[in-house]
Amino acid sequence: MCGIVGFVGRKPCAPVLLEGLSRLEYRGYDSAGIAVIENNNIVVKKTKGELKTLINLLDKGSNFKSEIGIGHTRWATHGKPSNENAHPHKSMNGKFVVVHNGIIENYASLKENLINEGYVFSSETDTEVVAALLEKLYNGNFFETVSKVLDVIEGSYALGIICADFPDEFYAVRKASPLIVGLSDEGNMIASDIPAILPLTNKIYYLNDNEIIKMTADEVEIFDVNGNKLQREVTEIKWDVSAAEKGGYKHFMIKEIMEQPKALKDTIEPRIKDGKINFEDIDFSDEFLKNIDCIHIVACGSAYHVGVVGKYIIEDLARKPVYVEIASEFRYSNPLVTDKSLVIVISQSGETADTLEALKIAKSKGAKILSIVNVVGSSIANISDNVLYTWAGPEISVATTKAYSTQLSLIYLVALYISEKIGTIDSDFVAEKIKEIEKIPGYIEEILKLAPEIEQMAKRYAYLEHAYFIGRNFDYAIALEASLKLKEISYIHSEAYAAGELKHGTISLIEEGTFVVGLACNKDLFKKTMSNVEEVKARGAEVMLITSENMDVSESMVDTVIRIPDCDKLITPSLEVVPMQLLGYYIALARNCNIDKPKNLAKSVTVE
Ligand code: AGP
Repeated sequence: MCGIVGFVGRKPCAPVLLEGLSRLEYRGYDSAGIAVIENNNIVVKKTKGELKTLINLLDKGSNFKSEIGIGHTRWATHGKPSNENAHPHKSMNGKFVVVHNGIIENYASLKENLINEGYVFSSETDTEVVAALLEKLYNGNFFETVSKVLDVIEGSYALGIICADFPDEFYAVRKASPLIVGLSDEGNMIASDIPAILPLTNKIYYLNDNEIIKMTADEVEIFDVNGNKLQREVTEIKWDVSAAEKGGYKHFMIKEIMEQPKALKDTIEPRIKDGKINFEDIDFSDEFLKNIDCIHIVACGSAYHVGVVGKYIIEDLARKPVYVEIASEFRYSNPLVTDKSLVIVISQSGETADTLEALKIAKSKGAKILSIVNVVGSSIANISDNVLYTWAGPEISVATTKAYSTQLSLIYLVALYISEKIGTIDSDFVAEKIKEIEKIPGYIEEILKLAPEIEQMAKRYAYLEHAYFIGRNFDYAIALEASLKLKEISYIHSEAYAAGELKHGTISLIEEGTFVVGLACNKDLFKKTMSNVEEVKARGAEVMLITSENMDVSESMVDTVIRIPDCDKLITPSLEVVPMQLLGYYIALARNCNIDKPKNLAKSVTVE
């Protein structure tokens, strides 16, 4: 996912741009660049590779006097990582320069027409087409030119645009790609995400899709595509810069694991009032909820794994069919969605392209959309009928932990809320379960004390080549998440398997010393899962068992046991996932992996 910054103010812009880009590095990128207006000329400096290459090349930005500029970190979509394909992209006549996050879906036909009209391109990117169109459609009026280009391009885009003829102002546009505005006395800023803005200011404007922003050192104006000026409330970000920094931890991931009790408190507490669910964020009619024909939960990666837990819980309580689907499959499956369907979309970033497109398809079929999102004002949030925000704060590490856990807590509340509306459970049952949900932060605080012990255990597994996680029902859902956590940051091959399914093939891979984690926290299925643990043990596996503190385990059947507090079945997934997060983290640490920025991964996959 690309990162965009822009600044216009009363001080040199280059250091502000580079600092902002450095706080967006977590989004994953392969090249970086900035453009400034110096002596009425646009100067572009960009390099393939790490941002520090650009920072060193520009001597931390000290060699520019300019007070207006834009910057970009690129995560390649069209065209390989290279200097030429890095942003910013200049128009052929050098009058315009653009940075872009998203995809111009009709860029190929536009590029062909422009080439036929004699335009020469210097990159393979879709973004350079925007620069070319600005040149082609320029009529001396910056705003009108931007508007005319927006009439022509299709797709998703957050754009930052400067023009050599207007050295005191620049434009930005937001459509289905994140962009926010920062407001300060020293100048005004755009960025793809809050951490980039915090060093300058904590006062921001959230933007909506199809909004055009005109920015000078003194003023920020927001317009709709018809040129109507829009009002916007200033939002004060409570996160200080340190909240987006590591806060003394070695990695963002372990910081965010340790932040889970607070993230959960912040997410759960506002949704409970006087022992009842308080979903003021949700305004589905009782009529609609009572007559839901089915529920689809659509997401990617870890968010999808939350959906797998959700399926078990919502079906059990609401007695309605729940289909949990990987977004990239859902969107091409001609899904069975009607105007009586509820589609729950889960996404930390709120910008995952497949999830966003799946949402649009569900909406086009008449479904009501409830999204569970961590980023306020994100593209998914903006087009949902209702949004439940996970107040997890900025999650920087590519491997999600606190956002995942807060999503889980909201899924429990949604399950109770819908089931009570449908009438399959009563208010006493809800009140009893709410009390259990409110205990989650405290339970997790207890489990986090196991970190040193799990760190020691992890050292034994640092040299694994394969790992298998097995469980039944929601234990299987946690096995999926545990497996992903391990493989995405330690690069160990790992598989999650429904414990009962192992004997239908995969058990042939189990041999002397194979590492198997058995998740047996669902008390109703404990004996069943333990028989599967016995099967792998009998074939020489080294077994780590995750189970509740009061479950009887014979030492001969397992090699290590990690126990979680005895708790209500509903919230068990939230507890058993935490040792798995810690295990994945400490194995990756023992392997000296790049934990916060694993190879090939980005924090949010805004391309298909
Ligand atoms: C989780 O650790 C991964 N980084 C990844 O699977 C992630 O959950 C997935 O890309 C979905 O992202 P989203 O929640 O921002 O939509």
